[in-house]
Amino acid sequence: MRSTEELSAWVRDARRRTHDLVAGLDARQLVGPRLPIVNPLLWEIGHVAWFQERWVLRHAGAQPPLRADADRLWDSSAIPHDARWDLPLPPLPETLDYMAEVESRVQHILESDPRPDVRYFTEYTVYHEDMHDEAFAYTRQTLGYPAPRPPRDPAGATTAASGPAAAWPGDAQIPGGPFTLGATEEEPFVFDNEKWAHTVSLAPYRIARAPVTAQDFAAFVEDGGYEREDLWSRPGWAWRRQQEATQPVYWRRAEGGWERRHFDRWVELEPHHPVVHVSWHEAEAWCTWADRRLPTEAEWEMAAASERGGRDKRRFPWGEATPTPDRAHLDGGTAGVVDVAACPDGDSAWGCRQMLGNVWEWTASDFRPYPGFTPDAYRDYSEPWFGTHKVLRGGCGATRARLIRNTWRNFYTPDRRDVWAGFRTCART
Ligand SMILES: [Fe+2]
Repeated sequence: MRSTEELSAWVRDARRRTHDLVAGLDARQLVGPRLPIVNPLLWEIGHVAWFQERWVLRHAGAQPPLRADADRLWDSSAIPHDARWDLPLPPLPETLDYMAEVESRVQHILESDPRPDVRYFTEYTVYHEDMHDEAFAYTRQTLGYPAPRPPRDPAGATTAASGPAAAWPGDAQIPGGPFTLGATEEEPFVFDNEKWAHTVSLAPYRIARAPVTAQDFAAFVEDGGYEREDLWSRPGWAWRRQQEATQPVYWRRAEGGWERRHFDRWVELEPHHPVVHVSWHEAEAWCTWADRRLPTEAEWEMAAASERGGRDKRRFPWGEATPTPDRAHLDGGTAGVVDVAACPDGDSAWGCRQMLGNVWEWTASDFRPYPGFTPDAYRDYSEPWFGTHKVLRGGCGATRARLIRNTWRNFYTPDRRDVWAGFRTCART
């Protein structure tokens, strides 16, 4: 279990990042348009504080509610998504006061009564805030708001990812065999959907050393990929037609090439960046066009975590050491991506690069429980989403380094292209 000093610093750090990510927006921007893929930011700020109050102060600390109306305003399990724009939300200064009061009480209980469940739920709510912080950042991209200010906290130092500016082509050959999928009990903190490690058996396969690049994806677009129904699954084609998609969502053609929208401005498409903001359907169609396929999540995890010639498993692709800029592009806040050849010290045992950081990677797998699954105290973390979502792995440039590891499972519906998701592929044979 984490020390109270570390948890206290994390609570402060997460809150500082939240403030940075919502800074500079006016009252209209803080409410924003009613879209199924975003929350009103003003609601989401209050929700982050409420979640911490709910679990650390009220559940673990047995304290009375700070506000009588808090559950009616910010309980995500009880308030339908499209009703969040109609709530009598307090204005930003009042919301921030509530947030500050929750934080100060959490710091106090950590100091005065750091029982195991207080520490467990403090850690849980820091991770919850980290996930919402990623959502704050992609919401700003979705709505075309200015980029958030760069992180000012020490953890933001991992932003300056290093390495050659280039493509990183080629496949790694993985011999397959038995593999332990999921988190072991040595992991200090795990979410319910990672429990527990269980043996799966994989056939040999070849998996790309890097994610698909923007240039790779542009070749598909220019080859008429969005006009050719034969490249798409039935649900994928229905999605494409309904969206009237003719290219990735933030791309436009310009003289001399492609441009992409980076928050509120247009920049030239960087050829060796991973393609990002593509849906699972677009990833699948690209694979059909290129005669490739998406890895299953077991294949992804084996390529990231297994040791050559042994059954030991690595916590990170490079081993046990904590992430650094040379190993993984994480913690960036603004979520700019870097070239796929960057972070050369982060390769897995098989030579796969950037399996953590830079871009979330869609897998072929449906999000389903591992054998023996039982939900944790916050029951709505995983269970409501089984069967309808696809698994993504690896984190992106906006993901906090403290959150991510080889066994971490993210999940979105296959139509989502607002998140920083791309993909890596496997050879078909
Ligand atoms: Fe939440």
